[in-house]
Amino acid sequence: MPIRPSGETGGNSVTEPSSVTAKAIASASACDDARLRSVFRCLVRHLHAFVDEVDLTPEEWLAGIQFLTATGHMCDDYRQEFMLLSDTLGVTSLVDEIAHRAKGDATESSVLGPFYTENPPEIAQGESIAASGNGVPLDVRGRVRDNRGVGIGGAVVDIWGTDGEGLYDSQHDSHPIDCRGRIRTAPDGGFALRTVLPQSYSIPTDGPVGALLQRLGRHTFRPAHLHFRISAEGFVPLTTAIYAAGDPYLSSDAVFGVRASLIEAFPRDEVTGRATLERDFLLSEVPRGESAARKRLPS
Ligand SMILES: [Fe+2]
Repeated sequence: MPIRPSGETGGNSVTEPSSVTAKAIASASACDDARLRSVFRCLVRHLHAFVDEVDLTPEEWLAGIQFLTATGHMCDDYRQEFMLLSDTLGVTSLVDEIAHRAKGDATESSVLGPFYTENPPEIAQGESIAASGNGVPLDVRGRVRDNRGVGIGGAVVDIWGTDGEGLYDSQHDSHPIDCRGRIRTAPDGGFALRTVLPQSYSIPTDGPVGALLQRLGRHTFRPAHLHFRISAEGFVPLTTAIYAAGDPYLSSDAVFGVRASLIEAFPRDEVTGRATLERDFLLSEVPRGESAARKRLPS
């Protein structure tokens, strides 16, 4: 790692940046959690190399601290600006990609996004999660299966999406529960519910992340999609989303969440006006014994 040498001032020896880096790395020596120790040391190495590479000035460092502070202040029960930061940096999507490598044929994962809420209201088969009914009616049908094609009964499927105006319920002032719910799969793994057609939308732009994207000249839109979070006993939980074919933002998603395998048509019946999404999800079994092999980091 190239580290700039620093000089001496007024005869006093100035700490070498490389010495700071070495000391910061060594500071985790007493940590008895091998994974934490490795990750911390790797983080310090990369962070110091970044600071050195861009010649970070004290003013820029302070601006960075202020940016992160503002990001934290923007977070509450309904808004997760740090998640948005991770998403728009592509970090969330990269973590998804890496996690998927160990899952074989399982349905690809996609970003959780900042609008998931724990324990959404549970509905029975065929019921609607669109409380307001604001939007084009959408019938969603699918099956949750294992990698041999056998349906998984009793799987918990959380679904959430925008209303017809491209807004999540938590973005409305009164925080109504709308277009989100939980359904359990039938014994054959099947599920069916009603909602409304999700719309492409802009991620929130009224916080520090939105201001950053504007300065970078980036647009802030995501293609229309429905989020799914699926869990079942003995299987690796899946967080994913299904993206609407033909959406103009598929190739420039502001959070890099689109995977080709997750794009589906949402055909609309001209007579009834209803749209349909049919999609199965394949879960991978929890590996027995040793967990998936992990890249070795220097300790
Ligand atoms: Fe979303």
